[in-house]
Formats: sequence, structure tokens, C-alpha cells
Amino acid sequence: MSVQAQPPSPLPRGICFFLTGLSGSGKSTIASSLREAVERSQSRAVTLLDGDVVRTHLSKELGFSRADRDTNIARIAFVAAEVVKHGGIVISAAIAPYDEARLRARELISAHGKFVLVHLSTPLSVCEGRDVKGLYARARRGEIAHFTGVSDIYEIPSISELVIDTATTSVADAVAQLMAHISKDQA
Ligand code: ADX
Repeated sequence: MSVQAQPPSPLPRGICFFLTGLSGSGKSTIASSLREAVERSQSRAVTLLDGDVVRTHLSKELGFSRADRDTNIARIAFVAAEVVKHGGIVISAAIAPYDEARLRARELISAHGKFVLVHLSTPLSVCEGRDVKGLYARARRGEIAHFTGVSDIYEIPSISELVIDTATTSVADAVAQLMAHISKDQA
């Protein structure tokens, strides 16, 4: 009996959701809801690169200077590009305040699949009002240097596939808008 090798089934097109916005803008919340929604409806695993988590592992030694933030985003982009190259779905949820670093991420990742930049444009006043981690209060007291939005810059993205203000858009609506990008692509 001969066993014939089956040709490998083609990989689905990989996709990276690159969420960017201030601390407290809703990145982690939307990222984890999106992950659940994709895993439920598409039965595809999702790699989540959450800023806070990345900084406890991959970028543990980095601080918040421009050079360190750029290195952090370059590492995230490298991992995301690998996932996308292999047909996977990856969500990055870091502040990523610099346009140049975001454009470099776009270039690297879009060479292998789809890149969807989502700007969480939630106003600073709302993010600060939420202050889930108490960091804005500490930054205002001068206890944290170079805190994004308070004593450090956030550059508005020059290219965004989606702009979502979580002060006026529910998590469910935001996730639906993101999911539409997957179905548009895979249909
Ligand atoms: S990034 O600028 O390099 O993209 P990243 O998303 O990894 O930032 O980390 C941001 C998180 O680190 C924030 O959500 C906050 O909890 C924490 N943090 C600590 N110091 C700072 C700071 N100076 N600026 C911004 N976030 C800070």
C-alpha cells in the first residue's frame, strides 16, 4: 500500500491588529475581547502581545526613553511579523507613541500579511479619569518621568485603518469593527 503525500493546505492570510493609544485608552480591554471573539467564531488561536506583559518578559530591561520605546516596538513588530508570516492572528496592544516606529512595524509586518492599525483616540481627560493603575496621579505628582500624555509625547498616527474613541464606542462595537476586517479579508 503506498501512502501519497498530501500537498500542504494553503495557510490563511496572517493578520496583525496593531492597537495604539494612551495608557487607559482601552487597548488591553479591546485586545482581550477581540481575542475571545476570534477564538470563538473562527477557531483560530490568537497571539496577544500586551504592552504590560511584553515589558515583564521580552522587554524587561527597557525603560521609557524614546530609544527604549522604539526598541520595545521593534521587538513586538518582529514577533508579530513571524506570527503573520505563518498565517496567524496577532494583536499588539502597546502605547507605541512614535509614528516612525509604527511605520517601521507596518512595513515589516505588511510584507507578510495584513496590517490593521487601530488608533484608540480616547481623550487624555477620559484616560486620566479612569486611571486604573493610579499612574496618571503619580505622573502629575512628578513621581513618574516621561509619562505619555502628561510629560511625554504621543504622536497621532499618520496612517490608521481604524480610529476608535472608547469614551463614545462600546467594547462590543469596537470588537465588531475589528472583526469586520478579518471577515473582509478571509471571505
Ligand atoms: S511603549 O511606549 O513602549 O509602547 P508600553 O505599552 O510598552 O509603552 O508600556 C506602557 C505601560 O507601562 C503603561 O500602560 C503603564 O502601565 C506603564 N508605564 C510606566 N511608566 C510609563 C511611562 N513613563 N509612560 C507610559 N507608560 C508607562
